[in-house]
Amino acid sequence: MFERIERVPGDAILGLIEAFKKDTNPQKVDLGVGVYRDDNGNTPVMRAVKEAETRLLKSETTKTYIGSHGAPAYGDAVLPLVLGADSPVLEADRASATQSPGGTGALRLAADFIAKQLPGKGIWVSDPTWPNHHGIFTAAGIELHKYPYVDADNRLDFDGMLAAIKKIPDGDVVVLHACCHNPTGFDLSAEQWQTVLDVVRERNLLPLIDFAYQGFGQGLDEDAYGVRLFAEQLDEVIITSSCSKNFGIYCERTGCLIAVAKDAEQKDNIRSQFAIVARENYSNPPAHGSAIVSEILHDAELSAMWRDELTEMRDRVNTLRRDFVEALKPYGLDKKYACVGEQRGMFSYTGLTPDQVERLRDEFGIYMVRSGRANVAGFSQQNLPYLARAIAVVNDV
Ligand code: LMR
Repeated sequence: MFERIERVPGDAILGLIEAFKKDTNPQKVDLGVGVYRDDNGNTPVMRAVKEAETRLLKSETTKTYIGSHGAPAYGDAVLPLVLGADSPVLEADRASATQSPGGTGALRLAADFIAKQLPGKGIWVSDPTWPNHHGIFTAAGIELHKYPYVDADNRLDFDGMLAAIKKIPDGDVVVLHACCHNPTGFDLSAEQWQTVLDVVRERNLLPLIDFAYQGFGQGLDEDAYGVRLFAEQLDEVIITSSCSKNFGIYCERTGCLIAVAKDAEQKDNIRSQFAIVARENYSNPPAHGSAIVSEILHDAELSAMWRDELTEMRDRVNTLRRDFVEALKPYGLDKKYACVGEQRGMFSYTGLTPDQVERLRDEFGIYMVRSGRANVAGFSQQNLPYLARAIAVVNDV
């Protein structure tokens, strides 16, 4: 039977990790997969995480199952982080947390829940979006549609987005990126969130807000603006949150599926369904990452340490954005790539074409996603002059 199985190309983003490793160019630069890097190109373990792990090593007494919803202490810590410490949603007991294996796991749980409980409903994602959104939702059997997000001049196409959302059929699901839009880095302003909220309410849509980069845009609370607005103003919202990036615990697979419902009873009904979906996928989530996060968030000293480190990471990325545009000035390309200074989060939709991306890889050992998405955290003071020169060459400057 196996002789009929076809070989398929690997994942476009994860494949870059391997390709980069194999490249022998000493000046190579990795702007591919979305992981934070320091100025030496390393992805360090955060100090607060190491300290939490040291404590856990001493205090851990069992490795028994933690249940399909994960560790209660983790959910208790993540809900206020996402929805706000004084959230009226939490006060009204309208939100529940189900720990998941990463943000990807939360998305898959949401997808299975939608496919099972809202049969026939389509799902709408931004064009472009994180490519795995396509994979996850179609794997669950949901019909996928797109709404525009970026115009031909590589700017946020808010009018196009709005016009398309206004036409989404009643009751369909619309996926929104809470902040640090992946892959573009273009985020909605407070006013634009409000406008989208009005349309979502009018069209009776179910918002699914993907919140993978909390703290990487403008701040932990600032980045949650849209999430909190929607949760407080609407009866029903699904949120998928990730601790991979803001705690730097990518390999520990730590995320959360949050349901916001009209009241506590409906919330508990949905929660019961989430447990079934989790059970059918992997039974119980892994424990270590969630234990780290709750150890940090339930301890004032570790929390303060973690927040400071996250601020350092965010500030570094935002500084590199400005420095990148500066580095292009001598080539007269600063205006062309000014968007990189304005976008937020780990990614920039640079406007580099697939051909230019290919040349950057082949001629300079610079790796990024074919769409022209660059991981800004891969820039460094050392590699910016090299990057700027390479970009000038592929622009024929
Ligand atoms: C990315 O977009 O690079 C990250 O979200 C990592 C991934 O899983 O693709």
